[in-house]
Amino acid sequence: MVKIAPSILSADFTRLGLEVESVKSGDLIHFDVMDGVFVPNISYGLPVLKALRPVTALPMDVHLMITKPLRFVERFCDLGADVVTVHVEADEPDKIREALLRIRARGKKAGLSVKPATPVSACQPFAELLDNLLIMAVEPGFGGQSFMADAPEKIAQAAALVRRVGRDCDIEVDGGINRETARLCREAGATVLVAGSHIFKAPDRAEEIRILRGI
Ligand code: DX5
Ligand code: ZN
Repeated sequence: MVKIAPSILSADFTRLGLEVESVKSGDLIHFDVMDGVFVPNISYGLPVLKALRPVTALPMDVHLMITKPLRFVERFCDLGADVVTVHVEADEPDKIREALLRIRARGKKAGLSVKPATPVSACQPFAELLDNLLIMAVEPGFGGQSFMADAPEKIAQAAALVRRVGRDCDIEVDGGINRETARLCREAGATVLVAGSHIFKAPDRAEEIRILRGI
């Protein structure tokens, strides 16, 4: 069954603890970190992760949209991240490899993400280190954008890549997820769906999470 990761980027930040509690029927809490350099927006970071860690028993799925993530991966691990995903475009290949190795050395799941313009094949050199392969279905930086039509094809390519290397690696999709695009992603082979605005706007968040699972 596909896992659902509510993205708290779309939550009401004045009551963030309660917002996290409201999506506890999800499988992971998706935590978007933006530095205003790698993407044209700034969100939240280490102190907020630390504050939320005791609020939920769900795994924290940290999506680092920051340049040179090697500087920060261990601190996110130590403050309670369970999955740490960096972008393949965020640094030189040897630094990306080192970031993935350090996440794994902390006993956490290591993820790699591609922006819409980056081919899935860019992840190939790192495939044996991955527990999560994150396909962006929107330009990273903002919630509430429309799902890009070529994302299902990239999901299928990602699924084929992890099959080829024989890894137990999640295929996560982020951006523009709603009932219809969730179905397209599930059919293409996604195993984790990130949904922000769709879940947080829903009148019944638990029911919406159940619907996105498609069962
Ligand atoms: C965008 C973030 C997403 C965002 C998705 O850069 O990585 O996680 O919260 O938002 P929706 O689901 O509204 O497209
Ligand atoms: Zn994200």
